[in-house]
Amino acid sequence: LNNGLALTPPMGWMHWQRFRCVVDCTAYPDDCVSEKLFRDMADRMVADGYKDAGYEYVIIDDCWASKERTTHNKLQPDPERFPSGIKALSDYVHEKGLKFGIYADYGTQTCAGYPGSIEYLESDAQTFADWGVDYLKLDGCHSEVLTMEIGYGLMGRYLNETGRPIVYSCSWPAYQEPIGIQANYARLAEVCNLWRNWDDIDDAWVNVTSILKWFSDNQDRIANYSGPGHWNDPDMLIIGNYGLSYEQAKAQMAIWAIMAAPLIMSVDLRTIEPKFRDILLNKDVIKINQDPKGIQGKLVLTKDKIDIWTKPINPVIDNQTSIAIGLLSHRVDGYPYRLNFTLSDLNLDNKSGYIIKDIYENSTVVEIAKPDNTVFIKIKPSGGVLLTATPLNPVNVQKV
Ligand code: DGJ
Repeated sequence: LNNGLALTPPMGWMHWQRFRCVVDCTAYPDDCVSEKLFRDMADRMVADGYKDAGYEYVIIDDCWASKERTTHNKLQPDPERFPSGIKALSDYVHEKGLKFGIYADYGTQTCAGYPGSIEYLESDAQTFADWGVDYLKLDGCHSEVLTMEIGYGLMGRYLNETGRPIVYSCSWPAYQEPIGIQANYARLAEVCNLWRNWDDIDDAWVNVTSILKWFSDNQDRIANYSGPGHWNDPDMLIIGNYGLSYEQAKAQMAIWAIMAAPLIMSVDLRTIEPKFRDILLNKDVIKINQDPKGIQGKLVLTKDKIDIWTKPINPVIDNQTSIAIGLLSHRVDGYPYRLNFTLSDLNLDNKSGYIIKDIYENSTVVEIAKPDNTVFIKIKPSGGVLLTATPLNPVNVQKV
């Protein structure tokens, strides 16, 4: 969507994956979907370095609303969980230098049964603008799947007419693709800043790998529609929760970086372990994700049950683009497996060779790898490795 927003993949925090629809604030005082939760997260985002690393949006997902609209048919928050109202929460987030996002649904009800927007798209768009919303996730439960392409376009128009810059996150492929309808990606890129393509992520490694399987199976159809202002969205980062090991967390972050995926955390930032926080805050990984070219990387090789993904990134040296290389292991055989491959296997053919760096280890792996030299990389079971291959300038090579 050409609204000047989301020129790199959006980064932020969203409550859904970790906090779901917990509305019982007596049983779960710290975890229920309430203004306290979002204030706490905004506080942590600033205090613990997430904001400085680029995470910007604090986004409310489903279950924030009252079950009833106002007498004027306006959406309103649950009065017990959001006693100060949404505008006050949005002001709080803005005062911290962050941006504020909210959730609505294109159908008659949200997925969790709260009021849907289908009959009130225009007035809900205005309500969100009045509240100072900077990002809207429009879900698609309880709706007519075949009307979505037009209906989401209409909501996009209403958002635009409010005059407030609002990142627009769409969901219609996630409702069309699973029932065998190929979504109209050209239209998505025109109407939306990002869109969920496929299944919800749950808190398990199998969800990461099954989402990646769908993305790689469909990459030739969808990847080119990702770019500055419009992104495919494989769903939230589950790093730091219960389901992923440390190695798996590094793998999710690596491949999300390669895919130019939105980096939307969903984790309790008050209690996250430092080693997981360090993954989320890794500046070099984030830089690959936020590369200004905005190219969505692709799976190029699977060897010995290890997937290798590549993504062109800056800098360009002698007309040769640098490449980020993400490895994800499906192996479970216990020891760090020594994979060998050549750069020409990955279609990298700069005759002068490349410098290969390991991003998590912050080390140089190979000084000069020519396209046909064998590169050896050790990768732990169900782990991830992120490399960059920077082309060597022939002049510099001669000097060496
Ligand atoms: C389905 C979406 O895909 C999820 O991300 C979440 O927003 C839930 N609906 C909320 O009900």
